[in-house]
Amino acid sequence: MPETTLHGLDRFSSRARAALAHALEQDPESILLEVPRDETHGEFSFPCFQMAKASGETPPALAARLAAELEIEAMQTEVVGPFLNFRIDTTPLAAAILEGALASDYGKGEQNETTVLEFSSPNIAKPMHVGHLRSTVIGASLARILARLGHKVTRINHLGDWGSQFGRLVAAWRRWGNEDAFAAHPIEHLLELYVRFHEEEEKDPTLMEEAKAAFGELETGEDGDSRRLWKRFTEASLLEFDKIYARLGIEFEHIRGESWYEDRLEGLVEWLDARGVLEESDGAQIVDLTAQGMDTPCLVKTALGTTLYATRDLAAARSRWEEFSFDHSLYVVGSEQELHFRQFKAVLDRCGEDWAARIEHISFGLIRMAEGKLSTREGKVLLLSKVLDRACELAMETIADKNPDLADRGAVAEQVGLGAVIFHDLKHQRQKDVVFDWKEVLSFEGDTGPYLQYTHARCCSILRKAASPNIAFQDVDPSLLADSPELMVALGRYPAAIREAGNRREPSALAQALLRIASAGNAFYRDRRVLGCGDEALERARLAAVAALRNTLADGLGLLGVPAPEEM
Ligand code: ARG
Repeated sequence: MPETTLHGLDRFSSRARAALAHALEQDPESILLEVPRDETHGEFSFPCFQMAKASGETPPALAARLAAELEIEAMQTEVVGPFLNFRIDTTPLAAAILEGALASDYGKGEQNETTVLEFSSPNIAKPMHVGHLRSTVIGASLARILARLGHKVTRINHLGDWGSQFGRLVAAWRRWGNEDAFAAHPIEHLLELYVRFHEEEEKDPTLMEEAKAAFGELETGEDGDSRRLWKRFTEASLLEFDKIYARLGIEFEHIRGESWYEDRLEGLVEWLDARGVLEESDGAQIVDLTAQGMDTPCLVKTALGTTLYATRDLAAARSRWEEFSFDHSLYVVGSEQELHFRQFKAVLDRCGEDWAARIEHISFGLIRMAEGKLSTREGKVLLLSKVLDRACELAMETIADKNPDLADRGAVAEQVGLGAVIFHDLKHQRQKDVVFDWKEVLSFEGDTGPYLQYTHARCCSILRKAASPNIAFQDVDPSLLADSPELMVALGRYPAAIREAGNRREPSALAQALLRIASAGNAFYRDRRVLGCGDEALERARLAAVAALRNTLADGLGLLGVPAPEEM
């Protein structure tokens, strides 16, 4: 790759790797650089342990030999014990970073791959709770990040719209359904019916019989009363979900519920049979997975002949493979479904499908609130829409307090409230549980969305006040920014952060990089006068740095799905 197409610090790390590879007679791909833990030790570090073993030197001796030998344009080396560290000269650093960050394609990648990304996937007839928030915001941001890296991404919403519970819902509706309540608050009413069914089923065994009959009717595919009801419930639920998606700015190429795969289920079972993996057990059809190291077999069809969640996932996986020939098929689903994903992948393995290795379960931890566990069974859910509303209300209070004259306060409060909730979710490593604390989420200081938004708005305000805010890179003398390597390095790590976030399916890598950028940016304009600093060329250079900061924050927040208001 020609050096000028490398963004940010990549331009320098690739130089260092090439020089190391040459000196060590290795392939540059095999040279891995680290980020020194102590920022004062330079921008990159090469740990010498492995190569020293091969050459029979001690790691410090190898580091010293390399330091004496290497000459790299615009970079200095320094030995710290067994590490060879690299420091970029401040003027070429500022020049390369400004050039990249002022351009519109900063951090763009060339990973030419096809990725199917399933996320959100709430269950119809139930409200989205804060647990669904994680799948939705992690998935949507991964979609944007991977697209930036060059992937062709297809976003799928795998609605939970099929299964025996819909027989229960139809039965409950027939007993207690109320048109007025449904018209006023469809999902709330359906949830009430669902809860009531579970309360009364023990006392009244005929309820369960009615539910089974209704689901049996649904499964025949015939267009009867059960199906008509199920369709109504689905449509009403989708209308509610769409309100949340619109609010969060989220779109899908395909909204395909589990029911979409219904007419592929028979074919799937036949296919499993033809591959010789299907067995009968007490009248049910199963796939044994002991050879795959799993004690529980995968149940494909019950003794009653009905299919299951796993059956539909197998059909969906196959249909996606046939339709998209994906390089990656990702599923953003909570860690409690780990076993399910291992099972259905193992079934595909047993069938000899090598594309099964391209399926990844992108799992994530729970959101924990003071209210305790979020189960819909007891009907005590923390509704996502309520959380978003509350966040926007609280944002409104803060704005009224801090910036009472702000025009368009309502719209900004909505952006700040949503941004706070989304960022709070994404800044944590996805596998970890998240504790949700209102005060922390909405604080304008600390590692929060509002803090990033505020930093961005500050940059916008500085640029608004400048006589000529649109500065071309060519008109800047980069040596005038040689006193600000911290900001340049933070901005320079942005492209690598996008790459890491995409490759590791970990939006928090990008979120954390943005926090470091914002903190370097705040220090930059706190310690230096930008407007009216007394020197025209210096003011131009500093304004260019502020513009680079604003662009990068806006871009990064956009990739995460956090709105970036220009004033707040
Ligand atoms: N609807 C499910 C739930 O809310 C999640 C679906 C996950 N996706 C999948 N392909 N199984 O728990």
